[in-house]
Parts: sequence; C-alpha cells; structure tokens
Amino acid sequence: MKSVSGAGVVVTGGGGGIGAALCRRLAAEGARVVVNDINARAAAAVATSVGGTAVAGDAASEDGVAALVAAARAELGEIDLFCANAGIAMIGGPEAAEADWDASWQVNVMAHVRAARLLLGPWLERGSGHLICTVSAAGLLTVPGSAPYAVTKHGALAFAEWLAVTYAHRGLTVQAICPLGVRTPMLDGADPRTEALLGASAIQPEAVADAVLEGIADGRFLILPHPEVAGMYAGRAAETDRWLRGMSKVQQRLEELG
Ligand SMILES: NC(=O)c1ccc[n+]([C@@H]2O[C@H](COP(=O)([O-])OP(=O)(O)OC[C@H]3O[C@@H](n4cnc5c(N)ncnc54)[C@H](O)[C@@H]3O)[C@@H](O)[C@H]2O)c1
Repeated sequence: MKSVSGAGVVVTGGGGGIGAALCRRLAAEGARVVVNDINARAAAAVATSVGGTAVAGDAASEDGVAALVAAARAELGEIDLFCANAGIAMIGGPEAAEADWDASWQVNVMAHVRAARLLLGPWLERGSGHLICTVSAAGLLTVPGSAPYAVTKHGALAFAEWLAVTYAHRGLTVQAICPLGVRTPMLDGADPRTEALLGASAIQPEAVADAVLEGIADGRFLILPHPEVAGMYAGRAAETDRWLRGMSKVQQRLEELG
C-alpha cells in the first residue's frame, strides 16, 4: 500500500496522543478510519472529529481484539491497514509489581499477536495486508528507569520482524514506528527523570504521523521519526560495550537528579 486513500484502517489507542494524530492524518489522506480506545469518550471524540467510527474497548485482551476486528470488518469490509498503537509505560525494574509486568506484556506485545492472528487469514488469502506497530526507540535500544517497557517493546519489535520475515513474500507489509520522546499524555505523565531524558528532543505526535505517511509511501520496515535513532541502533550493534558504557553514564546522570 503506497497510498491510504480509500483504505479501511483501524488505529488502536486512537483516542489520544500518537494514535489520535495517526487517525487525523490518515483520515485527511482519505482513509476510512475506525478509532479504537479503551477510553470510550476519547475514541468517540476523535472519531467524530475525523468522520470515522469509534469502536471502544480493550485492544489487548483476546476477547477485546476479537470484538474490535469483528466490528471493524462490519464497518470497513476487510481491514486494509491495522495500526497496533495502544501501549502503556510502567516504571521500575524487577521490583515492579507482577501486575505491571503482566499488563505491559498484554498491551505492548500480546495485543499485536492477537490482532495478527485474526488478520492474517484474510490477508494471506487476498495476498495483501498492512500492519503498523507503534513500538518505540526503547524496542531498538533500551530506556533507563522502565524495564517492563524496554523488555516488552523489544518483544513487540521482535514480533513485527518475525511477521515481516515470515509473510513479506506473501503480500504482507509490516512496519515498526520507533520514536524517542513524543509530546503526548504518556510523556507528560511520566516521572521527572523520563522528562529529563526525553523532553529536550521530544517531537509532536503530528511529526510521528508525517513520518508514518512517508514510511507507508516507501514501505521501509523501521519508521524513525527521530532519524538519529538509526545511528544509535547501529552503534549498539557494532560497539555494544561502548554503547552500554554510554547508557550507564546516562543512568548515572539521571540518578544525580534524585
Ligand atoms: N509518548 C512517547 O514518548 C512515546 C515514545 C515512543 C513510543 N510510544 C508509543 O506510542 C504509542 C502511543 O503512545 P502515546 O504516547 O500516544 O500514549 P498515550 O498514553 O498518550 O495514548 C495511548 C492511548 O492508548 C489507549 N490505551 C491504552 N491501553 C489500551 C488498551 N488496552 N486498549 C485500547 N486503548 C488503550 C489510552 O487510553 C490512550 O488514549 C504507545 O505504544 C507508546 O508506547 C510513545
């Protein structure tokens, strides 16, 4: 898919932040948009503003994903593009609560697995389908202060890569959006250390949507709204110990903030 004009699109977590910006931009480009969010009022507001359809509900649980895909198919016919965008950020390390680790796994990884499970059949049958996963630079690198986020975003990236490897030759396009900080309620609600880490280079959600439209046009796997992430990712792979030492210095600077 090089143009989204006329495409049937689902955006999870579309009620705010990056998801809402994606809904607005995709609708402006002529897509027919189903706006999902667990916050029904937010989904309805965005759907109304873009001339789309709200389907409120949990985009992570097995039942929630099944209900969303069924409602979206009823509205759109087949789904052409599914944006698995909903995500949550839990702070802490191994001491973080079991419930926080589990919720991170469900929303940041299993939501994508469950959506793909339902989308793949019709997509492979017709020989085309498009999945865009909102991952994070944390999925390519890491992020100090939040092990559940870093680990599950690596999982999300690994799943997107696996899908691309397995189904590209059967017509599936899979792309992963990997930004650093983005000015959304997620970043605005984060702790002061996260703000200190990401605030200065944070971009607006509309800039992420611009990068996604460019990515859709050229089909690249990694969509990097912060282009400098490509160099960081290459540095991590080529000089892993140097990269780890640099990240340790970042961690120490954040600790000095208290
Ligand atoms: N903001 C950033 O700095 C940043 C950076 C990199 C990646 N991301 C990723 O971008 C995506 C969107 O984040 P955002 O910054 O817009 O966050 P946000 O918290 O502002 O918006 C996320 C939306 O998803 C919804 N949501 C949460 N769980 C849901 C669920 N189970 N089912 C349906 N909807 C659900 C929320 O209600 C909210 O409207 C996430 O995957 C996040 O990890 C964000």
